[in-house]
Amino acid sequence: MEKEKKQKNLFASSVFQLSRTVTTHLYFGGGLLEECPSLFSGRAVVISDPKVGELYGAKLAEKLKAPLLLIPTGEKAKSFDVVGKLLDELLQLGVDRRTALFAVGGGATMDLVGFVASICLRGLPLVLVPTTLLAMVDASIGGKTGINNRFGKNQIGTFYPPQAVVVDPDVLCTLSEKERLNGLAEIWKLGSVLDKKLWKSDDILEAIKGKIEVVEKDPMEQGLRRILNFGHTISHALEKLTNYEISHGEAVLIGCVAEAHLSMNLGFLQKSDFQEIEAFYAQHLVQLPCSYTKEKLWEMMAYDKKKENGEVRFVLIDKIGHVVPFCGAYCRAVSLHELEETFFWLQTCKNR
Ligand SMILES: NC(=O)c1ccc[n+]([C@@H]2O[C@H](COP(=O)([O-])OP(=O)(O)OC[C@H]3O[C@@H](n4cnc5c(N)ncnc54)[C@H](O)[C@@H]3O)[C@@H](O)[C@H]2O)c1
Repeated sequence: MEKEKKQKNLFASSVFQLSRTVTTHLYFGGGLLEECPSLFSGRAVVISDPKVGELYGAKLAEKLKAPLLLIPTGEKAKSFDVVGKLLDELLQLGVDRRTALFAVGGGATMDLVGFVASICLRGLPLVLVPTTLLAMVDASIGGKTGINNRFGKNQIGTFYPPQAVVVDPDVLCTLSEKERLNGLAEIWKLGSVLDKKLWKSDDILEAIKGKIEVVEKDPMEQGLRRILNFGHTISHALEKLTNYEISHGEAVLIGCVAEAHLSMNLGFLQKSDFQEIEAFYAQHLVQLPCSYTKEKLWEMMAYDKKKENGEVRFVLIDKIGHVVPFCGAYCRAVSLHELEETFFWLQTCKNR
């Protein structure tokens, strides 16, 4: 939290570009939520989950003179049912193509509202106001939207850049330690693949800049952007396997160590680097259900979006802060046989 205090009064504004048509304005600074209405004009609708709605959404809606719509909390929001209900509510309100949707909340809210904004009337202006650390450093940056279905996480979605992202680190004061760790997991992941300085860091602004650097070079995830998927082939499978009982961040923490283990096993990462990673993460890893089998986990990986020609592909690192480029693909096919030892590590590693 020290870093957040230091950043409290820093107000930074910049732009980034993910598509030819939309320039995203990024606003960052403590207390920004209060000032947020002065940054925007025009008609708006604020959308939050009940908890965030009560904490921040209602006040923002009042200041914007906008209605507040509530959606379910967390992954429950990311479904076709909720999309349909929200679209009905928006159309009932008489939104037009200039009505901005303000998504106030965690990553699940960003993903759902982003998706709805991209399809309602073929596209409404979108303003993201992330209130979790994870949403600030990851879900609100990069223009990806998504909902889940029975085949897995984020299987349906769009690339849809927001008009603005408003990051006010002050709102993190109400966030639980567990949710905070979820965000740190994504900052440390970024450090593992991009810059060792971010590994073990809690610097929100540097993490945002790091992610922007990657997504601007490859907005549609054709190559370089895949590095941000490190740890996620395993984490998405774990989330689905546990029926989302472990959080996205908890799954990412485990996924990052497991995929570092795989990187070592396949001869890319030095053992000493893996040991450094394993030792640092050990205190944060959660218990996995003992009932799962490697076959079940492998089956869950079948829906990974990096999959090509039936092969499951992994982002692999050759040192902390650097990904193996694989001629610009930034990932490599891995067989079940090659994963054996990593599955064994997952089932036996200490602290579980
Ligand atoms: N689109 C992307 O690029 C991208 C990237 C990373 C993650 N994601 C998605 O983000 C989701 C995870 O996001 P998350 O970790 O923010 O979880 P979340 O959205 O489920 O929110 C977690 C919880 O925190 C509460 N909360 C939010 N802000 C709060 C605050 N300031 N104070 C107190 N409580 C608060 C919420 O009510 C909720 O209960 C996943 O669905 C994941 O797939 C998307």
